[in-house]
Amino acid sequence: MRVAMIGSGYVGLVSGACFADFGHVVTCVDTDPAKIDALKRGVMPIYEPGLAELVAKNVEEGRLFFTTDLAGPVAEAESVFIAVGTPSRRGDGHADLSYVHQAARDIAAAITGYTVVVTKSTVPVGTGDEVERIIREARPDAEFAVVSNPEFLREGAAISDFKRPDRIVIGTEDARAREVMTELYRPLYLNQSPLVMVGRRTAELIKYAGNAFLATKITFINEIADLCEKVGANVQEVARGIGLDNRIGSKFLHAGPGYGGSCFPKDTLALMKTAQDYDAPTRIVETVVAVNDQRKRAMARKIIAVCDGNVRGKRIAILGLTFKPNTDDMREAPSLAIITALQDAGATVTAYDPEGMEQARTMLGGVEYATDPYTCAKDADALAIVTEWDAFRALDLDRIKTTMKAPVVIDLRNIYRPEDMSRRGFTYVSVGRLNS
Ligand SMILES: NC(=O)c1ccc[n+]([C@@H]2O[C@H](COP(=O)([O-])OP(=O)(O)OC[C@H]3O[C@@H](n4cnc5c(N)ncnc54)[C@H](O)[C@@H]3O)[C@@H](O)[C@H]2O)c1
Repeated sequence: MRVAMIGSGYVGLVSGACFADFGHVVTCVDTDPAKIDALKRGVMPIYEPGLAELVAKNVEEGRLFFTTDLAGPVAEAESVFIAVGTPSRRGDGHADLSYVHQAARDIAAAITGYTVVVTKSTVPVGTGDEVERIIREARPDAEFAVVSNPEFLREGAAISDFKRPDRIVIGTEDARAREVMTELYRPLYLNQSPLVMVGRRTAELIKYAGNAFLATKITFINEIADLCEKVGANVQEVARGIGLDNRIGSKFLHAGPGYGGSCFPKDTLALMKTAQDYDAPTRIVETVVAVNDQRKRAMARKIIAVCDGNVRGKRIAILGLTFKPNTDDMREAPSLAIITALQDAGATVTAYDPEGMEQARTMLGGVEYATDPYTCAKDADALAIVTEWDAFRALDLDRIKTTMKAPVVIDLRNIYRPEDMSRRGFTYVSVGRLNS
């Protein structure tokens, strides 16, 4: 099948490369010429394990193309995916649908023959109706169907998530579109991935409900972690104790500095706004959003408290900047709020991240960047682990200790054991566990 992928960011590029790998002929389109130039040269615009190899293989085998010209590939395609960004709109937190609407207008001008237009971007309920209206108004003669097919991949594990999804959600009332979608996903379907066929509005809501539920789970365990600290319990053991209950499940029960990233913050906010507009407010999600917002700066206060309540003139080393490991994505990373709060309190911040420093430089001022964890820790009054990159899990702690001004570690991801850290002579504070 011929596929046009509009938007070649995290989702568009990964989806495009995976569809090509299934045997379809895919053209990834983007309005950013630098991104397309880089892709044509084999340079990935994002850090995602395995992506460069997958792209190279499918380009070489003649199934994956890149262009800034939307019209040609859309005219030839049987299915056109919209995978553009839907960031929070400035001012009110609703999803900004301007990129989706623009893509719909561009697609309308170019489609020929029966075309399935698929919204892969995360979009509020009713967006499919609007995309359909835009295309219909521009091209009353066109033969097309608009389908919702939300994406559930996680950055850092995007390719395996796309190729081995828990489920594929397809929202359409159009029987012909359903056939096209089934054909597109046939390799996964044959591999036992469940296809969840629902109405378009239901599919749109499944994505938001899923993300809001996961954000709630994280926020729940974070609050339990705070309680553990007060009552002398261990949050990791509480999480294991409840997670073994199949009704709860063990995933997304890791206490930490609050959720961030390109999806949960904007999607929880957008769901909350939609729900308010429809007079069916989601109070739990509203609380989750508020609790999570507060948590990031609270983590800075936690670091400051360990430094005797004062970081003015002190140097704080930060290990990990991205919102999670194995990505270079800095969008809404907790590190941004934590570092800014530390700087506000008068600290000098040195930071190291295996992949996120290039993006961080454009978002944070006054940070000194180190070339590795050890130079980052040098002369620091305290070191905070903010992202649990594997590279930080087995640090030479004795070496770290000798380079630091004071052996103080605040582990916001609970990757070390309090008793080990104490034995090595560190003042060690983690999340939801007794300090050493
Ligand atoms: N990043 C994730 O982990 C993830 C996971 C699931 C769903 N999503 C959703 O997928 C969507 C895309 O997210 P992303 O992280 O890939 O965004 P992104 O910002 O990485 O990529 C979007 C791309 O679309 C391009 N673009 C914008 N308008 C265009 C147009 N009219 N024509 C062609 N290209 C255009 C931009 O230049 C950009 O390269 C969002 O709705 C997001 O919520 C993201």
